[in-house]
Amino acid sequence: MPVKRSWAEPYKIKMVEHLTMTTRLERERAIADAGFNTFLLRSRDVYIDLLTDSGTSAMSDMQWSALMRGDEAYAGSDNFYHLEAAMRRHYGYKHLIPTHQGRGAENILSQLCIKPGDFVPGNMYFTTTKLHQELAGGRFVDVIVDEAHVPESEFPFKGNVDLGKLQRLIDEVGADRIPYLSLETNVNMAGGQPCSLSNIRDTAALCQRHGIRVFLDATRAVENAYFIKLREPGHADKSLSEILLEICAHTDGCTMSAKKDSLVNIGGFLAINDDELAEQAKNLVVIYEGLHTYGGMAGRDMEALAVGIEESVQFDHIRARIGQVEYLGHRLIDAGVPIVRPIGGHGVFINASKFLPHIPQSQFPGQALAAALYVDGGVRGMERGAVSAGRDSETGENILPSLELIRLTIPRRVYTQAHMDVTVESVTSLLEDRDKIVGLAFTYEPKHLRFFQARFTPVGADRVLNTAD
Ligand code: F0G
Repeated sequence: MPVKRSWAEPYKIKMVEHLTMTTRLERERAIADAGFNTFLLRSRDVYIDLLTDSGTSAMSDMQWSALMRGDEAYAGSDNFYHLEAAMRRHYGYKHLIPTHQGRGAENILSQLCIKPGDFVPGNMYFTTTKLHQELAGGRFVDVIVDEAHVPESEFPFKGNVDLGKLQRLIDEVGADRIPYLSLETNVNMAGGQPCSLSNIRDTAALCQRHGIRVFLDATRAVENAYFIKLREPGHADKSLSEILLEICAHTDGCTMSAKKDSLVNIGGFLAINDDELAEQAKNLVVIYEGLHTYGGMAGRDMEALAVGIEESVQFDHIRARIGQVEYLGHRLIDAGVPIVRPIGGHGVFINASKFLPHIPQSQFPGQALAAALYVDGGVRGMERGAVSAGRDSETGENILPSLELIRLTIPRRVYTQAHMDVTVESVTSLLEDRDKIVGLAFTYEPKHLRFFQARFTPVGADRVLNTAD
């Protein structure tokens, strides 16, 4: 029998950051003070922070030294040109417009391309992306495959566009009212689920036949490339870089939150192939972000990003990154916890409707589970269900999405396997006490992106987790 060969992280730890250990009583107070919204907790009160993988990565020694090479000129800094070269090498687009983060790029793209009354198809919504489309007068239309809405489905490419749905939209409203298709890789709200390269190619071909542009949300495109290499026949021998370039080559440009794949704490960009559209974008970026050679970033941040892009496409890095997510996911499956399958790229998504069948969706089981998990183990996750979905922009009614989830998102290169084990123990103990968790009701509901700042109260109880201790 050959000896099993494991892999371990392709890095070692040079510096540590101390965490605060809190008591359960302290956490009960903290979550009540935070209106039972994990976004409103102070991070010093959190032990294991799985709120997001956005801007929470550990930078490498090479990135930290890149910060020292910041050229803080207002215009034309060297760092801009390094970033432009890294973007062109790995994403392949012609023009780079830096922004402070992903939503800065979404704002500019939406304002440039969308007219009131337009429709913007996409493979599932993302909160900020959809809001910018709506603020520009457009309406988002979900054209993702049905499998994406079924947590138990093992379909390997749940991020795929349903070409039938897209064609129907084109037939109904006409291609001239569709400024572009918004294509997300490793679809966040579906559970970090990838698109196949053949689906990306076919989607782009359909759009091209109708003169519709395709803009990629490239935020987690490298993680998507890894799944293509592993799962889609014909790509196993290609490098992640080659697959990434192929994904991008089917599209007209991208918006990018560099806070995820690209391993920086802040930053993003808009990339565009069309010369004229890029010119217009450079004109808009100076209004909202900053000059077109820094957008919203300091020179040092652009340099760290240029290095981060190079590190992000290394196979060993992504294997360890997604491997850690899979480790957590498999341990939760073994413990009987209902999670979205297949295990995604950036986090494990617990099916809160199934975990808490006694809480109706109108009492936000995802939000309640996230609050209870914090109380139990000091682990901070994020609701991705009815609170995140918000209200219908036309009817004002609460949207009740088919996926009522909580996301345990893994920051890149930050936590150890022991942190994953502690998380599993906390979730497992909650599963045993699930009937002691109660639903929540709004006490404050913000107008836009309500999940960030909303406040809640437990329904019919003082606490969200009503166990004896
Ligand atoms: N697109 C996707 C797919 C995202 O996941 C995010 C951010 C954005 C765009 C917006 O980018 O935050 O840099 O402005 N997602 C974070 C998350 C907030 O926690 O999933 P941003």
